[in-house]
Amino acid sequence: MDYTYNRISFFMNGKAVSADLPPAISTLDYLNKSCGLYGTKCSCNEGDCGACTVVIAYVREGAVMYEAINSCLYPAAKLHGKHLLTIEALGSPDQLHPIQEAMLRHHSTQCGYCSPGFVMSAFALFAMKQKPDREEILAALEGNLCRCTGYDSILNAMEELSRTQNPETIVPTWARALEPELFRFKTPVLCFNQQSSSLHSSGAYHLPSSLEEAFSLLEEHPEARIINGGTDIMVQVNISRLKIPVLIDISGIDSLRQISLNKDGVRIGAAVTYSDLERSGIVKTDLPWLLELTKVLASRQIRNFGTLSGNIANASPIGDSLPLLLVLNASLILSSKASQRQIPLKDFFLSYKKTALAAGELITEIVIPIPPQGAYIKFIKAAKRKAVDISAIASAICLETDPQGLIKTARLALGGAAEIPKLSSGFSSILGIKPEDINAEELANLLASEFQPISDVRGSAAYRQTLIKNQILKYLDEVSRRQP
Ligand SMILES: Cc1cc2nc3c(=O)[nH]c(=O)nc-3n(C[C@H](O)[C@H](O)[C@H](O)COP(=O)(O)OP(=O)(O)OC[C@H]3O[C@@H](n4cnc5c(N)ncnc54)[C@H](O)[C@@H]3O)c2cc1C
Ligand code: FES
Ligand code: FES
Repeated sequence: MDYTYNRISFFMNGKAVSADLPPAISTLDYLNKSCGLYGTKCSCNEGDCGACTVVIAYVREGAVMYEAINSCLYPAAKLHGKHLLTIEALGSPDQLHPIQEAMLRHHSTQCGYCSPGFVMSAFALFAMKQKPDREEILAALEGNLCRCTGYDSILNAMEELSRTQNPETIVPTWARALEPELFRFKTPVLCFNQQSSSLHSSGAYHLPSSLEEAFSLLEEHPEARIINGGTDIMVQVNISRLKIPVLIDISGIDSLRQISLNKDGVRIGAAVTYSDLERSGIVKTDLPWLLELTKVLASRQIRNFGTLSGNIANASPIGDSLPLLLVLNASLILSSKASQRQIPLKDFFLSYKKTALAAGELITEIVIPIPPQGAYIKFIKAAKRKAVDISAIASAICLETDPQGLIKTARLALGGAAEIPKLSSGFSSILGIKPEDINAEELANLLASEFQPISDVRGSAAYRQTLIKNQILKYLDEVSRRQP
């Protein structure tokens, strides 16, 4: 099989581009360094500030989506088959875009460094949603920081726009005219095989379009690292100067970007993004807790390309999805060229950042059984900010009673409390009793002592112990007040 193409094709600001890229160059570096487009700003280079926000338009499930992403973390190779829109094309000094006009009217710009990012995040929102309300505006802008204006003027501008603007004028006509082209794009098997010694680049970047190709590549390159959204890996590339000789990007494999309802529960493909989860009717109906999780995980931009399977495979003790998936009894389908196996998520984490993934294997699906009706399921994340913040402690609970009111399922899991995310063993001590008969204080103390969190920048060990205890007390209080 010939994987060797080293150019990608996409549209940028209305024009067709065929680019020969250094492997793993970020879209931001591509714009700033190769295209001389400086409107997209670099500030943190790790997904936190939103100054680098651009919009990608691409076809998903028969429709063209406009999504904001952090260009500092988005490998430019992923642009293949998409339309990249940057601030340069939206408006000009003589003819501002309606979003820019609204920001001007409301004095929403001071130094201006953050403004292109805000405009692009707002553009993606208004392109996809007619007349968004304040909550939707806030959610769309939560990944953008401004150090000058104080936000109110920005929000006021967006609210006014939502009330008054004709939605048809948001996406420029030249961008709409290109949409049929996006349907015609067919993703070829791609391989950037140039050798590069630059700090920001790996030696080879492969973009297979089928699982078969991905497995062949893994076999050919045992040293390769899987990249999915890239929201964890690219931070390491940008900030820790991590050099990865070979990257295999699985995000373009359509068969991995499916959510389905099966006999064993909901199956979530490895390339499904958090935004895909938010849009899924299956998730909304059968796993609404996942939607709650996405509201506090990262930012709109990160959720547009970060994945649940990346969160799992990254195996951070503080990965936010992990406590919830553990109490939901999730399991993983691990596949390689030669075999496929299913393992419970609780057996996946071996020690700090070590997992049960064997060489040549990748997570292809996450299987989540649908919990019985009436089960009490909840997730709590303790962090300093509501958005774009890593938890100090995250926890989740699943509790179910039988018709006599006796507890028959009791699972509690914690993240940030040990070297791996894990289920509490002591929590099963409440099986067979009524929730109102639990001595909450005693149980919370007992369970908190099961975990030995460490001290780090997000909190001392003692602070974390207190959070663990208080989150457990909160759950037990809510459980005891529930109507049978
Ligand atoms: C600004 C910012 C905010 C964030 N906020 C949060 C937050 O609030 N909560 C949180 O939990 N995380 C957060 N993250 C971390 C990150 O976004 C998530 O962990 C995300 O789910 C990673 O998914 P990804 O697809 O981008 O992973 P990638 O970066 O592509 O991969 C991560 C790791 O998993 C491996 N991998 C990925 N997919 C597979 C697979 N299918 N099979 C085998 N290996 C695989 C990769 O090799 C790599 O080692 C944040 C990150 C940033 C930059
Ligand atoms: S530069 Fe801060 S999010 Fe990209
Ligand atoms: S206007 Fe200065 S950072 Fe936002």
